[in-house]
Amino acid sequence: MRHFLMSFLIIMALTTIFYILSERPHRDSIESFKSDTGHSEMRHRRPTYHIVAVACGQRAQETLVMIKSAILFNYYHECLKFLIFTEDPLTEIIREKLTDWRDTLPQLFEFELLPLKFPNQSEMEWKTLFKPCAAQRLFLPSLLTEVDSLLYVDTDILFLSPITDIWKFFDKFNDSQIAALAPEHENGNVGWYNRFARHPFYGELGVNSGVMLMNLTRMRNFNWEQHVFPIYKEYKFRITWGDQDIINILFYYHPDKLHIIPCEYNYRPDHCMYMTICNTSYSGIKLIHGNRGYFHSKKQPLFKIIYDSIESFQFSSSVYTDFLLPLRSALRAQSVNESSCGKIAGDILFVANILFGASY
Ligand SMILES: *[C@@H]1O[C@H](CO)[C@@H](O)[C@H](O)[C@H]1NC(C)=O
Ligand SMILES: *[C@@H]1O[C@H](CO)[C@@H](O)[C@H](O)[C@H]1NC(C)=O
Ligand SMILES: *[C@@H]1O[C@H](CO)[C@@H](O)[C@H](O)[C@H]1NC(C)=O
Ligand SMILES: *[C@@H]1O[C@H](CO)[C@@H](O)[C@H](O)[C@H]1NC(C)=O
Ligand SMILES: *[C@@H]1O[C@H](CO)[C@@H](O)[C@H](O)[C@H]1NC(C)=O
Repeated sequence: MRHFLMSFLIIMALTTIFYILSERPHRDSIESFKSDTGHSEMRHRRPTYHIVAVACGQRAQETLVMIKSAILFNYYHECLKFLIFTEDPLTEIIREKLTDWRDTLPQLFEFELLPLKFPNQSEMEWKTLFKPCAAQRLFLPSLLTEVDSLLYVDTDILFLSPITDIWKFFDKFNDSQIAALAPEHENGNVGWYNRFARHPFYGELGVNSGVMLMNLTRMRNFNWEQHVFPIYKEYKFRITWGDQDIINILFYYHPDKLHIIPCEYNYRPDHCMYMTICNTSYSGIKLIHGNRGYFHSKKQPLFKIIYDSIESFQFSSSVYTDFLLPLRSALRAQSVNESSCGKIAGDILFVANILFGASY
């Protein structure tokens, strides 16, 4: 009897180990996701990660590159769902490309393109007060009533790590926190809000709204939108950065509602162009933010090189040979070395080296 039990336990243990090993992702290109459809049953039990952006004006291509980076770094096959609020003619440009990618990578991500819209009650009021695009994200709690939580990103954000890296902060929220943001600055000498703002703002140096974890369930319970409106009315002539300022003012009055995430989750040129003020040597840069057009200018070549390398990557090719190796070598360029942000070139690929660099 005891022998029987022992062998039963051993067989169970071996089966478990085999299962764990065979479930581990191992692949050379994103395309091999395709052959994983057998695991779709498992995927269905996993959470959906909503990623939301608002795309207007000339931002179609940038939005697509942002989405591509999230898919590229979706190493663990999480269910990603992109909700993009946009307007014509961007809608068709984005739809065409995403449909194309989804045909190449079935089951890998979902998307929905939504028109810019405002909550029903006060639609007219908001439309006349705000530029639609700037205000859109303030209304996500009442527009996406079926969504519990999401990651909002500006279109000039690129993922350099899997979605789960940032999503884990939801678990760190205490009972009062409804959203998470990174500081606008790390250093008071070069901070904007502490030197120039004519309105109250969160904390010592304010927060940057380019990357925002939002627990919509909690935001709805807090009646978020009812707080936004009076703030806008009172401060509209004193705000410079639109919705970011409103968010800063709101959390000035409700600091217990905001969770702060580290600067490597919203890494901007300001963190390296004068001096290095965000320490990324320990865990690398997780999301990079090319604000003020830095992905498209040569001022700090590092930013443009990363953007270009993701833009030109094809999902059908090898992540290692066609993304990691060329980007590694591009980052060694003299122009990068000579720029102030070149100092953090090694931290750009910190996560990518671990995910894509080791096993080939
Ligand atoms: C929006 O408001 C209008 C009038 O105030 C009403 O007729 C309509 O049913 C509302 N729509 C929704 C989706 O609540
Ligand atoms: C958001 O908050 C609600 C209510 O507290 C909670 O049930 C839910 O699990 C939270 N979502 C996440 C992703 O933490
Ligand atoms: C949650 O954390 C914030 C910031 O540390 C704090 O102000 C707030 O009181 C905390 N809330 C609870 C319920 O502990
Ligand atoms: C950066 O952080 C790491 C780990 O926390 C630490 O060992 C290192 O000294 C820090 N570097 C700087 C320049 O502060
Ligand atoms: C930058 O280039 C100089 C001269 O070629 C070299 O000595 C130095 O190690 C380089 N720095 C980095 C960070 O690669």
